[in-house]
Amino acid sequence: MALKRVAITLLALCGLAAVGDALRCNCTNCEKTGYECETDGACMASTYYTQGKEQHVRICINRDNLVPPGQPFYCLSAEGLLNTHCCYVDYCNSVDLKVPVPTKEVNWLGSSWGPVELVAVIAGPVFLLCVLLMVGVFLFQYHQRAYSHRQRLEVEDPSCDHLYLAKDKTLQDLIYDMSTSGSGSGLPLFVQRTVARTIVLQEIIGKGRFGEVWRGKWRGGDVAVKIFSSREERSWFREAEIYQTIMLRHENILGFIAADNKDNGTWTQLWLVSDYHEHGSLFDYLNHYSVTIEGMIKLALSAASGLAHLHMEILGTQGKPGIAHRDLKSKNILVKKNGMCAIADLGLAVRHESITDTIDIAPNQRVGTKRYMAPEVLDETINMKHFDSFKCADIYALGLVYWEIARRCNAGGIHEEYQLPYFDLVPSDPSIEEMRKVVCDQRLRPNVPNWWQSYESLRVMGKIMRECWYANGAARLTALRIKKTLSQLSVEEDVKM
Ligand SMILES: Nc1ncnc2c1ncn2[C@@H]1O[C@H](COP(=O)(O)OP(=O)(O)O)[C@@H](O)[C@H]1O
Ligand SMILES: [Mg+2]
Repeated sequence: MALKRVAITLLALCGLAAVGDALRCNCTNCEKTGYECETDGACMASTYYTQGKEQHVRICINRDNLVPPGQPFYCLSAEGLLNTHCCYVDYCNSVDLKVPVPTKEVNWLGSSWGPVELVAVIAGPVFLLCVLLMVGVFLFQYHQRAYSHRQRLEVEDPSCDHLYLAKDKTLQDLIYDMSTSGSGSGLPLFVQRTVARTIVLQEIIGKGRFGEVWRGKWRGGDVAVKIFSSREERSWFREAEIYQTIMLRHENILGFIAADNKDNGTWTQLWLVSDYHEHGSLFDYLNHYSVTIEGMIKLALSAASGLAHLHMEILGTQGKPGIAHRDLKSKNILVKKNGMCAIADLGLAVRHESITDTIDIAPNQRVGTKRYMAPEVLDETINMKHFDSFKCADIYALGLVYWEIARRCNAGGIHEEYQLPYFDLVPSDPSIEEMRKVVCDQRLRPNVPNWWQSYESLRVMGKIMRECWYANGAARLTALRIKKTLSQLSVEEDVKM
């Protein structure tokens, strides 16, 4: 359509070619005047395509039609369609103009983009996408590298922990740093994790309710690692939480080092790391060895000190809540190298929140070991709203532990074989019902031999036991009272603690 209009316009212009004295031009449509025309304006030659054929037009353009001046409409070319040339000397429009080859072809998309543009349009975004992808991959790899580097740092060379974990520091140093600088509730968690992950397990040393206890090595020293199965995560968390109670640390409570939950992709390993005591539990110790009077007093006094500290509420910012153990027995007390006890296995402990006079977890009716359950626990008369009830139940169990110790006391060449409390009254692994019959109904207690009366220490121990075993929990001695009595005894017997 546009081409037609251009052609018609050009033909019409032929009629405008006027005869004059000014400029003479070639004129394709002027047969009558010998293909010439005259004008006061310009000669014009134009070449264009119409229906696939090249057409040439040469005409005169009058001055009146040379508008707008400078770039007259009739002299304009249209790229790829029309090549027009105006000139102002005689016959100057005899030139043969070529229509320039269209530079822009109509492509399959229906647009007028050339191959270069097409390539640019397609390749541009693809290139951009590649660049983004590469940047993404690079960032991901960088992040991965940084992450594994950090992991390695944490495991092998915890440089971020350098303040705490300088190569020459022993666990004792670490714990000392912590107790003098921190809140007194444990090592910072990242140090705990680093320590835990650099322990090399050596051998299994115990099996309990929730899993295995291992001896492990850390920086050449021994540590104990209690490994919980992932099903027991709550128990692991609870025990770690109790051990990290502010100001709990005491020489007669197992020294807690670290808790760690290590996810290896398929399962989670839950670790509690503590001081290692090569003698193992008091149960193991008494099974192996008899004890001297001095040894007995040491064991009994240290156990009472540990329990008194556990039970005691200390007020103030540097204080601690009262804690009841709820599973005190010879298997949950460890014997240290110096012959003193460390109370362990705090997994069932409860803490007293004195402001609200509540217990920090909902205590279930009967937990712990049936053989060591106090009468009020066995017959479920214990007042669980009252925190002191739990302390009294611990004291009953402590009395049984004292009986186990005192039986092994070698006085005047006599000592008895090791036995569990009530060994003569209930079968092994007794039921609650069997225990209740003996302890509540028959009101029986372990036998205190008469010959103990002949030895002041055994006499005192026997007296303490009986006062721990009252059916009425409130009438029992307190841990602090027992500690004082035994302290006095240790002075009298010249026991070096
Ligand atoms: N720190 C330790 N050092 C030496 N032996 C330990 C230590 N901790 C636990 N054991 C041994 O492992 C046994 C089970 O440990 P315990 O903490 O009572 O686990 P559970 O909660 O499974 O009863 C103990 O009776 C003792 O023989
Ligand atoms: Mg235990």
